[in-house]
Amino acid sequence: MHNLLNITSQVNPYTLDFISNINEIKSLQNQNNTITIIDSNVSRLYPSLHKENNIILECTEDIKTLKGATMLVGILSKKKINIKTKLIVIGGGILQDLVGFCASIYARGIEYTLIPTTLLAQTDSCVGGKTSINYDSKKNLLGTFYPPKKIVICTEFLKTLTPLDYISGLGEIYKFHILQNQIDKFSPDSLVEPMILDGLKYKIDILTRDEFDKGERKFLNFGHTFGHALESISNNYIPHGVAVILGSMIAVKVSKKLGYEVPNYELILEKGLNLIKASKISFDSDWFNLPPLLEIIKSDKKSTGELTMVLISNEPFLKNIQNPIILTSILQSTYESI
Ligand SMILES: NC(=O)c1ccc[n+]([C@@H]2O[C@H](COP(=O)([O-])OP(=O)(O)OC[C@H]3O[C@@H](n4cnc5c(N)ncnc54)[C@H](O)[C@@H]3O)[C@@H](O)[C@H]2O)c1
Ligand SMILES: [Zn+2]
Repeated sequence: MHNLLNITSQVNPYTLDFISNINEIKSLQNQNNTITIIDSNVSRLYPSLHKENNIILECTEDIKTLKGATMLVGILSKKKINIKTKLIVIGGGILQDLVGFCASIYARGIEYTLIPTTLLAQTDSCVGGKTSINYDSKKNLLGTFYPPKKIVICTEFLKTLTPLDYISGLGEIYKFHILQNQIDKFSPDSLVEPMILDGLKYKIDILTRDEFDKGERKFLNFGHTFGHALESISNNYIPHGVAVILGSMIAVKVSKKLGYEVPNYELILEKGLNLIKASKISFDSDWFNLPPLLEIIKSDKKSTGELTMVLISNEPFLKNIQNPIILTSILQSTYESI
């Protein structure tokens, strides 16, 4: 294991390492005063990570709630976890968001090591320190900034992901390429480790200048305005990264419709469409109705009551959409194309 990246943070600086073999995780689990919290699917697929004391959680969006957090805090308290205990968190973005949130409030903060096991978590969510839970069907309404002490990435985990979860991870990588004006370099068949590292480096660079989402970090929200709304309206049937692909395609179309020049416009849509088709999801036309989507967007935590989107030209920028009605035909054409 080697410290590949050091990530600065005003909360807690942290490190990120790549390892080549899942067995290397055992040495972390065997350190004194550690307890492993693991996604139930990962636990089943990787029995070598089994330890007597493991906390095994079934990870759906329903666990990313106050109820789920209360349940986990209850387990930690029962196990007499204290500030000397280090959590080893092994799972995808859902487990990360929930445990990160609980770790930030339990005893005013306990240390955790994050071992992301999905492509989405390895290339995007593991860095940046955002922890979140959903509230009252509002996605990620409650949360803190609380990065792990250490992130350890092993791409061996990705071999057991479902094709859909793999495509969901590619969604955030697709977004990174659009933001960097490099869609021509995006290929789902690229070697996965360099692809993950490129995404991480791009995000970490932005984090060093804007850790707390006050400025340019907001651009990473590209594709998420309609992405989050599509996740919600489909009752989380559309996975996060797939919703981000659709949201990115919608944002690109809005940019063009408002008269901005979008380099590689056709290529962005073509590559997005290929991912969506490969996901094999059957989409419901009702999910693409503007009024209910706008309702969801306006109740989002970041909403000021207006429709603000990250748009793209040569660079990303924030834009208040004065006349949301233009979205009606964009949503319709997006639905018809998929
Ligand atoms: N904190 C952030 O900055 C941030 C950023 C992006 C997304 N998110 C959140 O992340 C969540 C989505 O994360 P995700 O896509 O990792 O989903 P996830 O955690 O639900 O994992 C997807 C599925 O894959 C399974 N799984 C995990 N690892 C596996 C493996 N190695 N092999 C086989 N199956 C495996 C899980 O059990 C689950 O069924 C959303 O809630 C989203 O809001 C957070
Ligand atoms: Zn995202």
